[in-house]
Amino acid sequence: SVYSDAKAGSVAVADRIARLIKAKQARGEKAVLGLATGVTPIAVYSELVRQHKEEGLSFKNVITFNLDEYYPMKPTAAQSYVTFMYDNLFGHIDIDKSNVHIPDGILDTEAVVAFCLEYERKIEELGGLDLQILGIGRTGHIGFNEPGSAPNSGTRLVTLDDLTRSDAARDFGGKSNVPTKAITMGIGTIFKAREIILMAWSAKKAPIIKKAVEGEISGEVPATYLQLSDNVEFVLDVDAASEL
Ligand code: GLP
Repeated sequence: SVYSDAKAGSVAVADRIARLIKAKQARGEKAVLGLATGVTPIAVYSELVRQHKEEGLSFKNVITFNLDEYYPMKPTAAQSYVTFMYDNLFGHIDIDKSNVHIPDGILDTEAVVAFCLEYERKIEELGGLDLQILGIGRTGHIGFNEPGSAPNSGTRLVTLDDLTRSDAARDFGGKSNVPTKAITMGIGTIFKAREIILMAWSAKKAPIIKKAVEGEISGEVPATYLQLSDNVEFVLDVDAASEL
């Protein structure tokens, strides 16, 4: 769906998340959410915080799994996705911190493989992700699944694309400070979610949205794999949709 602006699209996505949480609550069940970072989901999170504060939306029955984290990365660092998630969402809602999962950026390399398998196992044990939200990078990455990612890939350590590191340079005060690696859920992990929402706002995303939606399905643009799923919705503003 296409919205007039990012705010309207974000509120629509937040409403869907809120409805899912409430429907699960009514049945005494947990909602298992896959969450994303970056500028794109910020207004979704602020709307959820607003609904928590003003409308009493509770996150007590919510379990979250974040898509990715830079590697190496101290959770306390300003640029960590842990800091991002607490600043934008978790720090302002009543979620039980033990229900929050974010890939661990301080493990040593040998421990990462086991951690990734455990991440997948935990998601499966909970019955899978009810809803995964995604942004998109200019390389066509979802999570940090860069060009070359396999459609059945799982959570793993990956090397970041040069363009992705350039785009992150501002947050890190220069490209040389941007980590070269990240831990990300795989394309396969994302695909198993019962619902997937990919959001994109602004004209800057229009070319990659065109490729993702209309381009040939290929590992060169990992987001094109989403064309293979029936459970995906692209939520765009008019600018991001302008080349479709
Ligand atoms: C990062 C994140 C992605 C995100 C992308 C786009 O690379 N790992 O999950 O989708 O950036 O970022 P933004 O939303 O800031 O444009």
